[in-house]
Amino acid sequence: MTANDTPKGQQPTATYDSAFLKACRREPVPHTPVWFMRQAGRSLPEYRKVREGVPMLESCMRPELVTEITLQPVRRHDVDAAIYFSDIVVPLKAIGIDLDIKPGVGPVVEQPIRTRADLARLRDLGPEDVPYVTEAIGLLTRELGATPLIGFAGAPFTLASYLVEGGPSRTYENAKAMMYGDPELWADLLDRLADITAAFLKVQIEAGASAVQLFDSWAGALAPADYLHSVMPASAKVFDAVAGYGVPRIHFGVGTGELLKLMGEAGADVVGVDWRVPLDEARRRVGAGKALQGNLDPTVLFTDKDTIAAKAREVLDAAAGLEGHVFNLGHGVPPNADPDALTRLVEYVHTATVR
Ligand code: CP3
Repeated sequence: MTANDTPKGQQPTATYDSAFLKACRREPVPHTPVWFMRQAGRSLPEYRKVREGVPMLESCMRPELVTEITLQPVRRHDVDAAIYFSDIVVPLKAIGIDLDIKPGVGPVVEQPIRTRADLARLRDLGPEDVPYVTEAIGLLTRELGATPLIGFAGAPFTLASYLVEGGPSRTYENAKAMMYGDPELWADLLDRLADITAAFLKVQIEAGASAVQLFDSWAGALAPADYLHSVMPASAKVFDAVAGYGVPRIHFGVGTGELLKLMGEAGADVVGVDWRVPLDEARRRVGAGKALQGNLDPTVLFTDKDTIAAKAREVLDAAAGLEGHVFNLGHGVPPNADPDALTRLVEYVHTATVR
């Protein structure tokens, strides 16, 4: 059976049996699977070449280009999973929010969402709003063979941070002021975003994605009690909406050491950990029944070959005996990382003994 003639949302056997999906399901693996957040992107010269003259958001809407960019790191590094090339703001753009991704800055929203009246701009998303996603994933699953494709979306809080602030922020003061000052509006905003996010993930799973990752990149800005009351219900709604597909659900954020347990309880099968918390400690915080993903400090990539191997060994040792470990960086690949260092890192993780 090939990916081509597989029923919607069901994986071919070779994909189902891949090391990556097995680790997500906490089954024994022949080697520790590895992929990298932001593995497709500026660290690759072949990426910079095909992106020449094409604005970021436009590149996300061209299925052939998305397919090529998604495949580039799989070809080059032999990673165990592909991640669909897109951005967390694509579904917002697709429902008509006026935003752009400014090079070197990030997502910028023309008119921030600040009032109840603004909520009306966040309409529901359907597959017809993102035909290029369905098309690109169809092309990709055919090209990828047994390699699983990870779909993804931004979590409600991280999306809200861009929508309310109007762009990237260090403090999230407008977003958090809404959360504290107008909890009803905040809850309604996050609930709207949960529905949009769930719909966007469903499109990707129905088109053939074998796993999904919810990026709550900036949730680390929140105290656990605020996360629990004001953010977790919306993220849990997203996870719940896709639970029935049976594909692994990964939940990741940066600086979320104090939130790891809650992020698991939100409904994740795999909890992503940044480099600040060693995986054995993360395991204690998260508790049994979840796989972990992570967590080499991305800046280690700027050291020499032996140091990279030694630091990767530390991650593997901290993960020894874990049920379910997916090797990754603690955050995305830095744009100026040496791609050869990544290729060697994959080789190292694949051949290192699982203890
Ligand atoms: O390989 C992959 O991981 C898939 C591609 C991917 C992109 N964005 C492509 C991209 C993924 C998973 C994302 C998610 C994303 N986007 C997140 C969550 C992940 C994280 O890093 O925490 C966030 C917070 C965003 C918002 C965003 N989009 C930022 C902060 C930036 C960087 C701005 C810059 O130029 O430094 C973007 C733009 C973006 N998204 C780029 C890429 C490859 C760079 C733009 C380019 O290549 O021209």
